[in-house]
Amino acid sequence: MREVRPTQVEWLRGILFLAETGQWCDDKRQEFILLSDTLGVSMLVDFINCGSGGTATESTVLGPFYVAGAPELPMGANIVKPGTPGAPCAVSGTVRDARGRPVGGALIDVWQAQGDGLYDVQKPDGANARACFRTADDGRYGFRCIKPVSYPVPHDGPVGKMLHATGRHPMRPGHLHFKIAAPGCETLVTHLFVKGDRYLDSDAVFGVKPSLVVDFRRRRGGEYEAKYDFVLKPAKRKTAGSRR
Ligand code: BEZ
Ligand code: FE
Repeated sequence: MREVRPTQVEWLRGILFLAETGQWCDDKRQEFILLSDTLGVSMLVDFINCGSGGTATESTVLGPFYVAGAPELPMGANIVKPGTPGAPCAVSGTVRDARGRPVGGALIDVWQAQGDGLYDVQKPDGANARACFRTADDGRYGFRCIKPVSYPVPHDGPVGKMLHATGRHPMRPGHLHFKIAAPGCETLVTHLFVKGDRYLDSDAVFGVKPSLVVDFRRRRGGEYEAKYDFVLKPAKRKTAGSRR
């Protein structure tokens, strides 16, 4: 307030904006987290708590479309149902710990928007384009999906008004979400972004980190392929009286 020195009318508009943001929240929509994401607050909190990653894979926002308890599928399975819009894609790699040892049995949650830019939870057709996998003993994982596409964050509410008022678009570059958990390791929440996407430099939620941008190569036969090796940090040790 000292910096901006709002008029009383501007102050009231600000209060009404925050109140409207709260009124858009229910058990399906969290407009305040979306506001935090689109103001860059979520990524700042991520950086404060997770740092740059060092030699480990960097983290980014969870987003509103994670659903706990997705079906566990066997290695190599397709996470999208037949008929789902989008270009077929195979993703594979390894999960290792900070000392380079393969992490077997890690639980990989993966979820993505479909080729029409919508997540399953934004449509009436049930669970799709999300699954869990376990890494093999040598740390390998692999699954099929669709090549991620860019899509807008929900912008039909107060966050949309904020983006419009500040001259910003609501788009996110194409990405695949991951949550990777293993005993003895810190749970990693991250994305893989599509190299060459036009929104990499202007992600509406500031989530892009260069180390997470991956080449999705087109193979003969038309299927895309991406490879990525994840590195997990060791679990934080809890010490008496420590906040961490
Ligand atoms: C997403 O990745 O889908 C997302 C992340 C943050 C806010 C809105 C959407
Ligand atoms: Fe997303």
